[in-house]
Amino acid sequence: MQKQPPFDLDAWLADKRATLATLAPGARAENLGRVERIADGVAQVSGLADVTLNEMVAFAGGATGFVHALDRDLVSVVLLDDDIAVVAGETVTRRRAVVQVPVGEGLLGRVIDPLGRPLDRDEPLAHDGWLPVERAAPAIVERASVSEPLETGVLAIDAVFAIGRGQRELIIGDRATGKTSLALDAIVSQKDSDVICVYVAVGQRSTAIERAIDVVRRYGDPSRCVFVTAAAGTAPGLQWIAPFAGFSIAEYFRDRGRHALIVIDDLTKHAATHRELALLTQEPPGREAYPGDIFYVHARLLERAAKLAPALGGGSLTALPIAETDAGNLSAYIPTNLISITDGQIVMDARLFAANQRPAVDIGLSVSRVGGKAQPRALRDVAGRLRFDYAQFLELEIFARFGALTDTRLAAQIARGTRIRALLAQPRLFALRTVEQIALLTALAQGLLDMVPPEALTSVRMRLVARRAALQGQEMSGDAEKGAIAEHVEAIRQIAAQMAATEGIGDQEAAP
Ligand SMILES: Nc1ncnc2c1ncn2[C@@H]1O[C@H](COP(=O)(O)OP(=O)(O)O)[C@@H](O)[C@H]1O
Ligand SMILES: [Mg+2]
Repeated sequence: MQKQPPFDLDAWLADKRATLATLAPGARAENLGRVERIADGVAQVSGLADVTLNEMVAFAGGATGFVHALDRDLVSVVLLDDDIAVVAGETVTRRRAVVQVPVGEGLLGRVIDPLGRPLDRDEPLAHDGWLPVERAAPAIVERASVSEPLETGVLAIDAVFAIGRGQRELIIGDRATGKTSLALDAIVSQKDSDVICVYVAVGQRSTAIERAIDVVRRYGDPSRCVFVTAAAGTAPGLQWIAPFAGFSIAEYFRDRGRHALIVIDDLTKHAATHRELALLTQEPPGREAYPGDIFYVHARLLERAAKLAPALGGGSLTALPIAETDAGNLSAYIPTNLISITDGQIVMDARLFAANQRPAVDIGLSVSRVGGKAQPRALRDVAGRLRFDYAQFLELEIFARFGALTDTRLAAQIARGTRIRALLAQPRLFALRTVEQIALLTALAQGLLDMVPPEALTSVRMRLVARRAALQGQEMSGDAEKGAIAEHVEAIRQIAAQMAATEGIGDQEAAP
């Protein structure tokens, strides 16, 4: 695109005279705006009396923007292009349409910006239509309660903090505690499911976005994912609409009876962009300098995640928004807002992460308010007491540090807890299928894993997963059926016994 040429009065006059000469007489009303001020990606425009909020406008120089705030005389227009200069005095015309994004099957596998402009290759986007980025959330009567599980393949989530399709679960924690990794694991796991994934990157470094896309391309099924990116350096307007655009793209599938998962990485950056735009458009700042409507912005966004009623096709849209905390401070403004908007939160703890307990899920602070109802029955049965036992163990462990616990019952509890902890630790991109999760927890409950020391549980799990290739095609259907579970439990028993025998690791560590 071209830059606006320097202003040439004579040429302008000549041009206008030519226009006048050819002008057919007649009256026509046109709403033409004029840029009064321009700074930091926001233009103050006068003369657009009837313009509506979120309406797209076009600048004479080719740039586009949308109306973000309305005042009596001036409207604030947020620019959507980084590379086209806008100058004061430039004319502005209404597009008479709100901000829209292309949607459809053709987006799958593509990397796009929040306006649907391709970023991966030159090939234009094949799309089935457009949807406004701001859409109303489904009403209560249009919804059904969350009833199917969204399997992430991560034991700490699926067993302890199960997520249901249509749920909103916040992933929150300090920098570099594995938030993005956990969300990507969930996306990669959908390789074996019917769930469409939309990954929205807001305000992230370009290299981090590259890496995330690369992970999905390499280990997941990129042909069922859409990547919407607005990296840290892009126009604030683009970053602002990114989550909304992502939701519209995902809703296209939800509204056709399909299942979708949206990850927004992250809403803290989005809140910062919202604050930046609000300060530029002179909205009064409130707590932590955020404008008062930040809660409403995120609430109306996340409210669009839903499990639809059967009459509407029964589709679902699950949301995993990510939020970053500062020194684990969950009571800062944005974290508390998001925690109260969502149906639960997975809290990632920096200390656990440093202690190599990864994923660093804080069992005490995390919660999933609706997913338990959607958890497969067999998994719920074995996982039921897990969280309680583990929490109790964590308390006990602190006392155990002060001196040897002589009570054998307590010692057994600690031995069991150590094994739970070892099982909950899981490397990245190492998804466990539901039947494997059930079998592992069953084996744990039956004491079959007491044969091997906790450190060796990783290799037990590794060998269990390695069996999968051999079993391929045999029993893929009856995933959570009794026979399949029993068969897996038996396999775990054999693996554990074999390890205890061959590697000389007896049951000296085991519970008495
Ligand atoms: N389960 C895990 N096991 C091992 N390493 C992990 C795990 N989860 C995350 N990591 C590593 O931790 C680092 C930070 O993770 P990342 O997801 O980028 O954190 P955040 O998004 O919270 O900033 C990455 O290098 C990642 O590979
Ligand atoms: Mg991250």
